Amino acid sequence: MGIKENEVRNLIKITDLSVEEIDELIGIANDIIADPEAYIDICHGKIMATLFFEPSTRTRLSFTSAMMSLGGQVLGFSEAASSSAAKGESVSDTVRTVGAYSDIIAMRHPKEGAPLIASERTTVPIINAGDGGHFHPTQTLTDLLTISEVKGHLGDMTIGLCGDLCFGRTVHSLIEAMMRYENVRFVLISPRELRIPKYMRELMDSNGAEWKEVERMEDVMSELDILYMTRVQRERFFNEEDYVRLKDSYILDMDKLADAKEDLAILHPLPRVNEIAVEVDDDPRAKYFDQVLYGRYIRMALILRLLGIK
Ligand code: NCD
Repeated sequence: MGIKENEVRNLIKITDLSVEEIDELIGIANDIIADPEAYIDICHGKIMATLFFEPSTRTRLSFTSAMMSLGGQVLGFSEAASSSAAKGESVSDTVRTVGAYSDIIAMRHPKEGAPLIASERTTVPIINAGDGGHFHPTQTLTDLLTISEVKGHLGDMTIGLCGDLCFGRTVHSLIEAMMRYENVRFVLISPRELRIPKYMRELMDSNGAEWKEVERMEDVMSELDILYMTRVQRERFFNEEDYVRLKDSYILDMDKLADAKEDLAILHPLPRVNEIAVEVDDDPRAKYFDQVLYGRYIRMALILRLLGIK
């Protein structure tokens, strides 16, 4: 469901927004960046609930900061243990309840599909802030704003996605989003065990996307316009041994960047564990901390649109 007038508006997966609606959100984010003062009271009297059944730093706090920067207020919880989920309450009942206390809900849950179910139980807009290994549409909005600011456009580029492509939900949403732009190639860099899931392969093929898989980042570095690094998703592994074996599969350092383009942009949704050496942070191509800031502005834009505030 997209952000049409007079309709309950949710963001469950990135394709709930058309390319035009994403352009519009990027435009609003740019207006906010240019003149944040103009927005400080626009959500006065509105309440956002952040329901986080899984850990988070950036996503939860950027939603909080975004709503506060718009003059709204925020309530919620940051772990399932401090909510009635710990007593056995269902997601449906929790969301029905919180819908009575808030105007918009951002929700993160370890189970794929939980935000979709939640959206059927309340008339308040639901934003998926990450559902298991599935999707993370607001990280993708952040990534799209970052790419658009850094490159000046969203098509005509080769994007390398590196790390845990199996469980990394940010990767799945970013591919779904970028597939809709002209002349985008994907280079999927992962160990065999962490390759992109079948449903994503089928999606890329049915959309005619151009993509290839490799195991070594050095082999493809010179082709890339964007390098999107990701963490190995420890919490989704069935056993610790496999995690320990795979966790340091890729460590981006200055040596590995030897053949990279001058205008490569290095992105990472964060948190970083070991996959980017700290020495890379000082390279002008490192854009992952800019990405953090863009996450706040695009979430401000999203809140405004989902609340129907002009
Ligand atoms: C990502 C997530 O939660 O999927 N983090 C984030 O929201 N910025 C990436 C990750 O946890 O590895």
